[in-house]
Amino acid sequence: MKEYSAENDAGLLRYLNRIFRPEDPVLKEARERSLKAGLPEIQVGPLDALHLEVLARAAGARKAVEIGTLGGYSGIALARALGKDGRLHTFELDPKHAEVARESFRKAGVLDRVRIHVGPALERLPECEEDAPFDLVFIDADKDNYPAYLSWAAEHLRVGGVVLGDNAFAFGEIVDGRGAGPVAMRKFNEELAQGGRFRATMIPTGEGLAMGVKIR
Ligand SMILES: C[S@@+](CC[C@H](N)C(=O)[O-])C[C@H]1O[C@@H](n2cnc3c(N)ncnc32)[C@H](O)[C@@H]1O
Repeated sequence: MKEYSAENDAGLLRYLNRIFRPEDPVLKEARERSLKAGLPEIQVGPLDALHLEVLARAAGARKAVEIGTLGGYSGIALARALGKDGRLHTFELDPKHAEVARESFRKAGVLDRVRIHVGPALERLPECEEDAPFDLVFIDADKDNYPAYLSWAAEHLRVGGVVLGDNAFAFGEIVDGRGAGPVAMRKFNEELAQGGRFRATMIPTGEGLAMGVKIR
């Protein structure tokens, strides 16, 4: 059977963009401004942002946490899903990234439902714990800490809440890569799949989007 992947099939990608329209002018502007401001182009792809929005809507999420804000691209997708009364806590190490993200959220009309926490996420996560339990946690920052972020999510999601981890294929090194990143990502995937707190799967996007629903 032929395998189809939008990653390496330009025709398929054009088709998906035409039908599902993952990137509207607001997201496009945020992506381009972020690039102009000198931020690295490492935000999720447009279709992955749409996955995030649709998954958050499917989960009925109102309160969410994002680890790794960058210029606010994925945060806009999540904040849209949470609705007007929703709350997104997003964590970013780099103050410059956070500043660009603030403008993205403002331009997208969602700044009132977003709080940006600046600093190392592991140190800053307690700042949002008064809003726990959360409906959704999206992990997309330093790979070495994915296992620690997962432990935090297991403690601060409601039962039925969703954890998502991007780059779960460790940039092609998940099977046998020896660096700290792939080793940590294997630990993350194993804990998510077999640790007993989540029922989990891997959505085989280009980057690998790990997804678990908290069961206990
Ligand atoms: C892949 S980018 C996030 C992309 C963003 N989620 C998007 O798709 O629009 C990762 C971000 O995590 C930030 N980061 C790295 N280490 C961090 C840490 N320890 N705590 C918080 N943020 C961190 C980086 O500065 C970078 O902006």
